[in-house]
Parts: sequence; C-alpha cells; structure tokens
Amino acid sequence: MISITFASHNQDKVEEIRAILEGNFLITGLHDLGCHEDIPEPYDTLEENAIAKARYVYNNYSVNCFADDTGLEADALNGLPGVLSARYAGQAKDNNANINKLLYELDGRDNRQACFRTVIALIIDGETHLFEGKACGHITDQPRGNNGFGYDPVFVPDGYRQTFAEMDAATKNKISHRYRALQKLADFLQNYRPAGS
Ligand code: IMP
Repeated sequence: MISITFASHNQDKVEEIRAILEGNFLITGLHDLGCHEDIPEPYDTLEENAIAKARYVYNNYSVNCFADDTGLEADALNGLPGVLSARYAGQAKDNNANINKLLYELDGRDNRQACFRTVIALIIDGETHLFEGKACGHITDQPRGNNGFGYDPVFVPDGYRQTFAEMDAATKNKISHRYRALQKLADFLQNYRPAGS
C-alpha cells in the first residue's frame, strides 16, 4: 500500500481526506510525521503556495505528499480575496471580519458572482502534479446559516437557494471545491503506477 502524507495540521481535514481516498492508500498527517512547525504560505497564488507546502514536506521528510490551498475569488473584485481569503481583514484570521469586508467591497455592485477554488499539489516519486476543484455561485447581501466556516454564510452555490452555511455538511461536501479537487486527486492516485512497476 502506498503511503502519502497530507501536509496539514488540521486533523479534521486529514480525516475527511482519509475517508475519500480510503482503500488503496495510507493517508498520514503532519502530526504522524512528528512535524509540528508552521509551513509558510508566502506566495501570491494558490498554486505556488500549495506547491511550496508540499515541497517543504517532501524535502524535509522525504515522503510522498500533497498540500492544498483554497481561496474565494469574486469576479467584481478581480479575484479577491483569493489567496488572501484567510487574512482578508487582517492577520487575526477573523471569519466575521472577513465576511464584513467582502460585503462592504461588494456593496452596490451588480456582479456578485464568485467561485471557491482549491488547488492540490501532489509530489509523488519526485514529480509534481496539480489538481483544481471549483464551486461557483454568488455572494448574498447578508450572512445566513450557522454551519461550516469561513465565507460559508454568504456563499450560495449555483443551482441552490441555501448558503453553504445553511446546508448540512454532507450536502456541502458533495459539491464543494475541496471535494472536487480531491476527487481528481483520488482518480489520479487510483490509476497511479510507480515507474518501473
Ligand atoms: P485553506 O487554504 O483551506 O486554509 O482556506 C483558506 C481560507 O479560505 C479559509 O481561511 C477560509 O476563509 C476560506 N475557505 C476555504 N475553504 C472554505 C469553505 O469551504 N467555505 C468557506 N470558506 C472557505
């Protein structure tokens, strides 16, 4: 069985990913590697940050690994908050402050279209592969719902009336950007054969 490390300290995400990829792969988290340091995400794009995190783990621990980075990209704001999503309103990573800033920036704008985008960078046997998942929809005028996290209370996916925060987790997870990127990763891994095997 191939063992792959998910470069995240978030144990909930590790469990979610384990459930999706279960079967052919042994998914470990940073915790299992004894890696407790914060991995920097200093770049201007989701792709560069995901690659940097995966490379950090690959270089320091010599394991096959993948990392993700996600942002909410609003059309009328030229893709902002994007890579800044967690810290849009400041370093405190305050979800309510981030939402308020987004609503303020979109106030009075007709175009409220936005997409969540997740990029996964996988490094396996020294090769880097990228996978992208998107969930598109629009930003509401007011927050609605108590589930989820981040920008969920102001995001309504196309084809639905509820915000992500009004949906139960199972419904959101079936159509989410992260799930779609993970499905592509799972498809790749399920067909992956190490060179020479
Ligand atoms: P991360 O790369 O998964 O840590 O996501 C970066 C930031 O994007 C988070 O801090 C949230 O503000 C936002 N975000 C990512 N995924 C979601 C989601 O599924 N719902 C709402 N906000 C999200």
